[in-house]
Amino acid sequence: MQTHLRGRDMITTQEWTKDEIDTVLDVAFELKRQRALGISHASLRDKVLAMLFFFTSTRTRASFESGIVQLGGHGAFIDSTTTQISHGDTAKEIGEIYGRYFDGIAIRQCDWGVGNQYIRDVAAASRVPVLNMQCDHFHPFQILADLMTIIEKKGDPRGLTINVSYAYAASYQKPMSVPISLILLMTRFGMNVRLTHPPEFNLMPQYVEQAKENARKARGSFEILDDFDAGFKDADIVYPKSWGCMLTTSDLQESAEISKKYTGWITDERRMALAKEDAIYMHCLPADRNIEVTDGVIDGPQSVVYDEAENRLHVQKAVMALTM
Ligand code: CP
Repeated sequence: MQTHLRGRDMITTQEWTKDEIDTVLDVAFELKRQRALGISHASLRDKVLAMLFFFTSTRTRASFESGIVQLGGHGAFIDSTTTQISHGDTAKEIGEIYGRYFDGIAIRQCDWGVGNQYIRDVAAASRVPVLNMQCDHFHPFQILADLMTIIEKKGDPRGLTINVSYAYAASYQKPMSVPISLILLMTRFGMNVRLTHPPEFNLMPQYVEQAKENARKARGSFEILDDFDAGFKDADIVYPKSWGCMLTTSDLQESAEISKKYTGWITDERRMALAKEDAIYMHCLPADRNIEVTDGVIDGPQSVVYDEAENRLHVQKAVMALTM
């Protein structure tokens, strides 16, 4: 266990050691247990978290806001469109000034080619920890919650096979931050990680290389497939979700046309039957029901999506309690 995390940013799990991630999980399980028992754990009394959103959210806002209050503090929700950011306040102003008002700055900025750099620029100017609530590259708190859920449902993740797969969705070009973060973290825990996607839906190559290196060091494995059905075969965990083909085209019309070639990439009961009998179905949500996944699967006995969403609360509280 690591006990010296005060002041640390959480921008990507890759910048935390495995020992440090184990500490987060350990604290998250403890806080979850305490909440179930009704034991107060107000270790951040009088601390205030800024929650700056450039993008919509159901789970992330609610779980951070509730989490900081359960720790004895307060969450200040800030919609970027209500600030002076569009009138000149740069990332430096946000880091310098919010760093003096608040005890932590959490940011969601998912704009392609913008978000990660923005969060890093705020962090460079801030005297308090900066927490990434999702950017164009990473969604670290989602993936910590995913790992916690896998441990709850399956025990030791080492040697388990997870299929991180593209799935079709019609709603919008979703960020690739979830699959990138999944391949980066699950390879570090010795899992056999399959990344399955059509050729146009590549992830950023630097992170694919990093995932390969993580797998080599942790004695797991990492492979890339382009056959949707093959990705499900004998998997312990299936995580099919949509993302955009931003590395293939920046044209929204063209990307919609490319995506339409893959309307058959929907998770249904036949595909779930290709995975192990006790396989679990995971999704970060929101999902496009009956386009990305059938109601029968997402509401079925193998789905763990609501426990997964709950665990956002516990891992976020753990990181806030350790860093703020
Ligand atoms: N999974 C997730 O981040 O959900 P929201 O976009 O609703 O916050």
